[in-house]
Amino acid sequence: MTTVCLIVAAGMGERAGDGGPKQYRVLGGKPLLRWSAERLAAHPRIDRVHVVIGDGQRKAYDEACGDLALGEPVIGGSSRQESVLRGLETVEGAANVLIHDAARPFISADMVDRLLSALETHDGAVPALPVVDSLRTGSTRIEGEVARDGLNRVQTPQAFHYLPLLGAHRAASPGATDDAAVARAAGLSVAMAPGDEDLFKLTYAEDFQRAERMIAGRGF
Ligand code: C5P
Repeated sequence: MTTVCLIVAAGMGERAGDGGPKQYRVLGGKPLLRWSAERLAAHPRIDRVHVVIGDGQRKAYDEACGDLALGEPVIGGSSRQESVLRGLETVEGAANVLIHDAARPFISADMVDRLLSALETHDGAVPALPVVDSLRTGSTRIEGEVARDGLNRVQTPQAFHYLPLLGAHRAASPGATDDAAVARAAGLSVAMAPGDEDLFKLTYAEDFQRAERMIAGRGF
């Protein structure tokens, strides 16, 4: 049974500042993308990893990951969802697929195992953590309250049986921020596995500083 991983890395990552796509910015001495590419390619239950890259990013990709044993990179689209679909279209024959954001470098082997185990009973599985802060709407002053009970933050990688996810993406309307939303819109069952605080997404410049502190403190 073939398990393929797609790392989506075709965004511009402009919120991280500093010019250039954030996935090629150096973190702890290597490009951000390389952190998850190395870890996922080394996982014994993942047969192949492909990175979905932006048009015009091939040189940056080769410099970041050219020496790793990865599948051919795929050119992404103008939205995350389009990038995932383009990746899915190129990996036919897979039984399972994991979709991971390049912006989440600290993926553990245990997390991958938890997700793949959940696929034994569900169409898909995502890492999720309960919301612990109080939630308020508004921008400069509070406009309203939202009950946090039953709310979860979901992360990547997100794991799915390949063919149902491909069908879901082909039928999807634009706008989904993750694959679980696309899968659920198509009626698939998606399990939640315990997530990992270390798996946070690097979005802003401060997130890079936090990640650098983690690397320095723990010797990753
Ligand atoms: O913008 P956001 O942080 O939600 O992007 C999540 C992931 O999706 C990133 O790894 C980004 O590179 C990827 N992405 C993509 N193609 C796009 C937009 C985002 O592969 N057109």
